Amino acid sequence: MIEISHISKTFTSRENTVDAVRDVSLQVREGEIFGVIGNSGAGKSTLVRCLNLLEIPDSGEMRVAGRRIALRGGRAYFDGSSRPAGEKQLGQLRRSMGMIFQHFNLLDRSTVFDNIAYPLRYTGMNRTDISSRVMELLRLVGLTDKAGAYPSQLSGGQKQRVAIARALAGSPKILLSDEATSALDPDATESILNLLRTLNEELGLTIVLITHEMAVIKAIAHRVAVMENGLVVEEGDVYDVFANPQQDITRRFVASATALSRVDKLLREDSPLVQVKPGEMLLRLTFSRESVGDAAISAISRDYGVSVNIVLASVEALRDDTLGGLIAVFQGRPDQLEGAVSWLEENRIKVEVLRRG
Ligand SMILES: Nc1ncnc2c1ncn2[C@@H]1O[C@H](COP(=O)(O)OP(=O)(O)OP(=O)(O)O)[C@@H](O)[C@H]1O
Ligand SMILES: [Mg+2]
Repeated sequence: MIEISHISKTFTSRENTVDAVRDVSLQVREGEIFGVIGNSGAGKSTLVRCLNLLEIPDSGEMRVAGRRIALRGGRAYFDGSSRPAGEKQLGQLRRSMGMIFQHFNLLDRSTVFDNIAYPLRYTGMNRTDISSRVMELLRLVGLTDKAGAYPSQLSGGQKQRVAIARALAGSPKILLSDEATSALDPDATESILNLLRTLNEELGLTIVLITHEMAVIKAIAHRVAVMENGLVVEEGDVYDVFANPQQDITRRFVASATALSRVDKLLREDSPLVQVKPGEMLLRLTFSRESVGDAAISAISRDYGVSVNIVLASVEALRDDTLGGLIAVFQGRPDQLEGAVSWLEENRIKVEVLRRG
């Protein structure tokens, strides 16, 4: 659906040069929700603007909207052409993707209806068709009763629904979402994420979702790329990235969205909860789909004589999946502990030793 190879974008001003996107290669599959997460300044917005050529990359290649596009010297060359694409071609490509933003970007002096009708008026569609299309879009986002309202009369979540309806007016197959929930409260965030998920499932809309919050990725994304300093440093299925983060930055993002990360604070504060005596180990266990937590705990205490004292436990909801975790003090003789740890690992439970007594 979207394939980008070795895309780079540098901003140069008199004072400095910023390599906002550095040699990024990615594939977004048809019908998926692809998340991009990173801290402020990581290059997320630049990357997503490169996808629809709002920002023309300096170099690289991409396949998008059925076109093969080569990027050289800040110009785009479509389908092997030796002449750079002009505004008309670029405009067509941009319109093939919808885009939504953190601050909605609605026209304050226009009604909800007119905000959504606006992009349709440039397509040559007649007034009756525009009207029925707008009403259809309002139904889709659950705002039929707000057609005549002005943006100032809407809540943040409702404004974002209008922005989504407007982005979908031209029936794009791809929706680019740049921090669409960052300005919303938790309830509105949840309802917008649910709407995006429904659009993905019912219309088959492919969504590229930019965020700095792992909770957003966790709620609806299928796959995720992690960006740091313009680079994509890690990429994979959301479940695998959560269960087994490889990079420090990814671990920090994962920790920010899991209850078990409280243990890091307990360890820093040297809390009584995480003290270990000789013959004890403080372990973090991660249970994946194939392994079940309570069965494992009873098995090791029964078969290895190890006693398990639970400090923290959690079950994370990831889209339709769950991922369990446990932090516990294990107590026993060295051979018992060793046997228990081997058993856990053989049963596909990830074991990390946090402290040894
Ligand atoms: N038009 C521009 N001119 C100059 N520098 C830019 C421009 N746009 C972005 N940058 C720089 O490129 C880097 C990446 O910016 P970008 O907006 O892509 O980051 P981001 O990951 O979206 O951050 P945030 O989470 O704060 O939105 C930053 O250092 C930024 O200052
Ligand atoms: Mg941004």
